[in-house]
Amino acid sequence: MISSPIDEIKNRLNIVEVIGSYIKLQKAGANYRALCPFHSEKNPSLFVSPARQIWHCFGCQKGGSIFNFVMEIEGVEFGDALRILAKRAGVELKPISPEWRKLKTERQRLYEICELSTKFFQKQLAESKIGQEAKKYLLNRKISEESIEKWRLGYAPDSWQGLSDFLVSRGYKKEEVEKAGLAIKNEQGSFYDRFRGRIIFPIFDLSSQVIGFGGRIFKETSSKQPETGSKPAKYVNTPNTLLYDKSKVLYGLDKAKVEIRKKDFAILVEGYVDTIMCHQAGFENAVATSGTALTPYQLAILKRYSEKILTAFDMDVAGDWATKRGIDLAQARGFDVKVITMPKDSDPADIILQNPEKWKELVGEAKSILDFYFEGAFSRFDKTMPAGKKEISKILLPLIKRIPNKIEQSYWIQKLSKELGVQEGDVAEELNKIKLTEEFYGLEPEEIINLPSKTRKELLEERLITLILISKNPHYLEFVREEELIYFSPKIKEILRHIKENITNEKDLGQKGLSPELVDLFNYFYLKTEIEKIEEKEIEPEIKYCLKEIRSIEIKNKLDQISKEIKKAEEEKNSSKIQKLLEEFNSYSKSLSDFKI
Ligand code: CTP
Ligand code: MN
Repeated sequence: MISSPIDEIKNRLNIVEVIGSYIKLQKAGANYRALCPFHSEKNPSLFVSPARQIWHCFGCQKGGSIFNFVMEIEGVEFGDALRILAKRAGVELKPISPEWRKLKTERQRLYEICELSTKFFQKQLAESKIGQEAKKYLLNRKISEESIEKWRLGYAPDSWQGLSDFLVSRGYKKEEVEKAGLAIKNEQGSFYDRFRGRIIFPIFDLSSQVIGFGGRIFKETSSKQPETGSKPAKYVNTPNTLLYDKSKVLYGLDKAKVEIRKKDFAILVEGYVDTIMCHQAGFENAVATSGTALTPYQLAILKRYSEKILTAFDMDVAGDWATKRGIDLAQARGFDVKVITMPKDSDPADIILQNPEKWKELVGEAKSILDFYFEGAFSRFDKTMPAGKKEISKILLPLIKRIPNKIEQSYWIQKLSKELGVQEGDVAEELNKIKLTEEFYGLEPEEIINLPSKTRKELLEERLITLILISKNPHYLEFVREEELIYFSPKIKEILRHIKENITNEKDLGQKGLSPELVDLFNYFYLKTEIEKIEEKEIEPEIKYCLKEIRSIEIKNKLDQISKEIKKAEEEKNSSKIQKLLEEFNSYSKSLSDFKI
């Protein structure tokens, strides 16, 4: 038998190792457990079963095979997860056939466009005359050859269609180039390149695929922005596309994630150059936001790797509240936030350029965000005057309020009251009066709370199967009457049948005879039996309860459906149909009240 690459990969990789390379697993009996990276929780509810090679989170209900896990954690589609795991397992994926090529999703074509464009820009940097000048500029800023290679830096020629023409010659449509964010359509309906005469920083997703670009101005570009005719911006970035969303990406995270976990903190900088220079200086745990405030989404991703952030933002810039908001948000989410204080008007890249040792020192001296704000507030106002005390507390109280940990919070209340020379109780009272905007309180990023929730019926079905498996007692199957199997979903029906055919008091049921698409689900039920605890005497009443509920849910659904049909028949004035439907309705209602176990 020829095994599929999927089976081959599953055979070669151990789920504990794969998942363990992303999150910290702890042994729990025959299984492993961990804090779920897909929703926020304090007690670990994600389980990994080495015996069954599946994982499941009993908090957010996500789960499945190593493929699902990689898709979730890397934020990629199945095809990409397959490639990532194939690489890891050393399994070769066969080149795709022409038919397949046609079927490739739009997304995949955009990935290809981004990858090809990256190569195009890289070649320009290496070979064109002006590209070589751009490269000299980078080397001059002490961005090394290796870094240029590693970050795949490039140069976009100063021409209107250089890249577009190249991509079209490779079989991509101009519209697709636009969709990838690389071309812009003008009013006349023709397309021109977005990036012209710029140094290119490709932006990568978590699996190092290029999804977007940042282009830094290099010399004065001759072709001005046709949109405005004004001075070109220092940076041009890919707009939001199918692949790229600046509020979700952290530049450099693909290269930093392992190091962030290892060092247990992330350095957050503001620019592409800063990120690259940090990595070069040995701080491979640096990532950047793309000129925006940190978003809840980005924080949720970071949290997978560490809950400590050292920011290297320019905090003195007047009116730069966007940046500050991101930091406050991180603090409210329970991150331990520290601030790297830098000399005025310099960024990490400047400091490293002058003296990498100096940067190391500054990182070592990072102070807690609260200390940072304390210093700022106390230096600006006179703490000996009542008005000064008021201003200082106005700045600091909201920040203290946001600290989720009560013990930590009370430390800062003490500190503030001491430094202001007022009663601790008064500070605490003022703190109580403060209302925080919702933005800072517990609100979860949409993508994370919008978990596919199971219906009540699905939950009941799961419970029923789990109970029967725990009991290992064929007797309970007799409660599920043959004529009532219609109430169950097809998957559950098949699993029930499988149990019926194989159940013994002795050992594991095995999966032989089960359709392949049900194996994961079945394994999931088994994992539940290993985790859930229930007293022997509770099994029977619970099984009965589940059956009763499932049945009444289904009958109610049926009644709803018949009511709708009756309404329609009434509109159509179809009296014989109405009659028939009413009879049906009555017989279902009756069975609802008749039902006894
Ligand atoms: N940025 C942007 N658009 C601009 C200016 C800045 O998107 N018009 C973003 C870029 O992601 C940039 C970051 O904000 O990397 C920080 O900006 P800046 O400090 O001006 O750039 P540096 O990365 O420091 O670039 P350089 O050192 O080459 O000036
Ligand atoms: Mn800079």
